[in-house]
Amino acid sequence: MKVGVIGAGYVGLTTAVALGYIGHEVTVLDINPDRIASLKKGVSPIHEEGMEDMLSGISEQNLSFSVNYTDLTDSELIIIAVGTPAMPDGKANMAYLEGAAVSIAEILKPGQPYIIVVKSTVPIGSNQRVEHIIRRHLGQKYNQYQIDYASNPEFLREGFALFDTFFPERIVIGCNDEHTKVAMNELYAPIVQRSFKVPEFIKNIPDYTSKVFLTDRTSAELIKYSANAFLSVKISFINEIARLAEYTGADIISVSQGIGSDSRIGTKFLEAGIGWGGSCFPKDTSALISIAREYDLNMPLIEAAININSQMRKLAVSKLQSHFKVLRGLKVGILGLSFKPGTDDVRDAPAIDIINILLNYGSLVYAHDPIVKGVGKHIIDSNDIEYMAEVEDLLPLVDALVITTDWPMYKQLNWQGFAEKYPDLKLVVDGRNMLVKNGIRFETPEYAGIGIIDGQ
Ligand code: NAD
Ligand code: UGA
Repeated sequence: MKVGVIGAGYVGLTTAVALGYIGHEVTVLDINPDRIASLKKGVSPIHEEGMEDMLSGISEQNLSFSVNYTDLTDSELIIIAVGTPAMPDGKANMAYLEGAAVSIAEILKPGQPYIIVVKSTVPIGSNQRVEHIIRRHLGQKYNQYQIDYASNPEFLREGFALFDTFFPERIVIGCNDEHTKVAMNELYAPIVQRSFKVPEFIKNIPDYTSKVFLTDRTSAELIKYSANAFLSVKISFINEIARLAEYTGADIISVSQGIGSDSRIGTKFLEAGIGWGGSCFPKDTSALISIAREYDLNMPLIEAAININSQMRKLAVSKLQSHFKVLRGLKVGILGLSFKPGTDDVRDAPAIDIINILLNYGSLVYAHDPIVKGVGKHIIDSNDIEYMAEVEDLLPLVDALVITTDWPMYKQLNWQGFAEKYPDLKLVVDGRNMLVKNGIRFETPEYAGIGIIDGQ
């Protein structure tokens, strides 16, 4: 099929690359000319495992890049995957989606069949609104056009984006008519029927089955927000229990395994720590609360999850405070800037909140991340932060360390040799419990995880 994908970000680019790989003729469009220029050179604008191998392995016929909407005129299917970031009041910013809808309306040809697919995560009614914008734009001529609409929310995880796209647990399709269902099934047929060769650098799971879940557009929109909200609540739940574990002397890692071994609960998303961040959970939980408010409804459970999440950042800082008493002038090393390993995404990363709290207290921050080289625009204006290219150069400078992202490289450090090599380093706050989970133990410097018995 001829497919146009609007937005060359984590979702748009991944979707385009996967669809091109399985045989569709895909054109990716972005309004950011630098992104498109970079993609034309085979350089991925996002850090996602396997992306550049994929870019170099797909023919131009199957994957091309453009900044001109007119290049989408012959696409049978146009997938919108632009950002829907949170506005200051928590609502999703619809400007990019609505801008894309207008630009699409301008390039469609009468008589030619199109399906407009919304993949971005959007508030209830947004699919209907995209249809309305296109109808309004085309005015009285709308009847001469053949346009259908589908909601097709995305569930990929950053760091596993390609894997999740080739091995989706479920594909949710919300649409009103039979013709669109058939076309959407055709789009994903090679993935659902497993009729493609899995790229070498993606882990293969033989006999994998994906579920296609057909529903209406509104339900598809709510499925997406509810899935993210549920996962956020699950993490905040274990973090709330982790707080109690610290008072009672229980070990949250055991507690998590113990409750997760009930298949009704499951072990996933029960890892306690400094909480959830990223480009989606924070914005989607606040967008869901805003949606409910439009109906005069409160969402106390989701509000509580957000609250607990912000307390977890503060808990990491309070561990420094109770050890050192004075944070002003304290030299703190931050290990990890991205919101989780495997991505360069720093949107709403826990590290950013922790750095901002520390800078406000007057601490001196030394930050390291294997991929992210700076977070300038996300933190308060300060000269008190320095980015270190090598973690080994950071270690001799600091009084304390906070592990904010569980990048595998941090567990390879020679922690047992730290006391001798870095005598100034007095405390390691393991915001992800990564050392204790990997059986790494030491007495000096002092070790503090989240929800575990200190020193263990
Ligand atoms: P992103 O910020 O990485 O990429 C969005 C891209 O859209 C940018 O390159 C931007 O330049 C482009 N864009 C904006 N307006 C445009 C327009 N009018 N025309 C053409 N291009 C335009 O965003 P993302 O992380 O890929 O997220 C996209 C959507 O998918 C969001 O709604 C998000 O909630 C949802 N989502 C994201 C993830 C994820 O892991 N990042 C997973 C599932 C769903
Ligand atoms: C999440 C969802 O998992 C995807 O299904 C969804 O498509 C995506 O949001 C989205 O809508 O954008 P992602 O944000 O990439 O994916 O990352 P996750 O792996 O879900 O982790 C989110 C955050 O929760 C990270 O900060 C992670 O460190 C934290 N987390 C995760 C925990 O603190 N504990 C856990 O047990 C699991």
